[in-house]
Amino acid sequence: MPKCSKELNCAFIIFRHGRGTGRAKAMTRNAMMSDTDLHLDKLRKARERGIIDRFGLYGLHWGDPDERADLVAVRDRFVWPLIHPDKIAVEIGPGGGRWTRYFLPCRRLYVVDRYPELLAELSRNFHAPNMVLIENSGTDFPGIADRTVDLVFSYGTFVHFELPMIADYLHEIRRILKPGGDVVLQYADKTKPVGAETPSFPDCDPQRIAKIIRDAEFRIVQQDDELLNNSGLVHFTR
Ligand SMILES: C[S@@+](CC[C@H](N)C(=O)[O-])C[C@H]1O[C@@H](n2cnc3c(N)ncnc32)[C@H](O)[C@@H]1O
Repeated sequence: MPKCSKELNCAFIIFRHGRGTGRAKAMTRNAMMSDTDLHLDKLRKARERGIIDRFGLYGLHWGDPDERADLVAVRDRFVWPLIHPDKIAVEIGPGGGRWTRYFLPCRRLYVVDRYPELLAELSRNFHAPNMVLIENSGTDFPGIADRTVDLVFSYGTFVHFELPMIADYLHEIRRILKPGGDVVLQYADKTKPVGAETPSFPDCDPQRIAKIIRDAEFRIVQQDDELLNNSGLVHFTR
């Protein structure tokens, strides 16, 4: 495993895999189609406006999971019960790390992001030796072996993905997840007024997300469409 590049000052970073196979090429196309500069713009604007310094961590201005009631409920119901020091965890799209901090007690934590600039932002605050930073190509997990992961979590990230891209991610999650492993994803819900009014949210709702999760041969453990005003949470397993 290569050492971390100097500017990231983290445990390790694994760079992108090649995109040789037909499936990998199609997956990259889906990732590109869903791609925008949204995440880089958000980070750069937060820097320019002094938001990161004011809140102490990039992302806390969207709500602190230790303070905002609905996020506290997400933490207590969907995160804490799954954390264990024997587990290998993956977080997809960590941003500045407002959720990442809860996964640090795991034996190993892979943090996967498409943008090196976001991984660099994360590594300003986190230097844990059990944390492995991975830059992916949009929907893949380079360097993570088949059936080795106990837990996959993503918040604030899949809400921006179109369904074909989520389906690609599900295929890859199925590859890395151990049988019986847990996955928790936040998804956009366009049936809610606030979700419908959020331009960066794609067309997605509880029924369609549940269908593609089942189509990918996972079993849904719980799905919550009440807690959040613009989105939902789904916990599933294989
Ligand atoms: C809106 S931020 C949310 C960050 C964090 N999870 C939170 O809730 O504060 C979205 C994150 O997803 C990352 N991201 C965007 N597209 C991605 C992709 N295809 N795969 C992995 N991460 C991605 C962004 O770089 C950013 O870190």
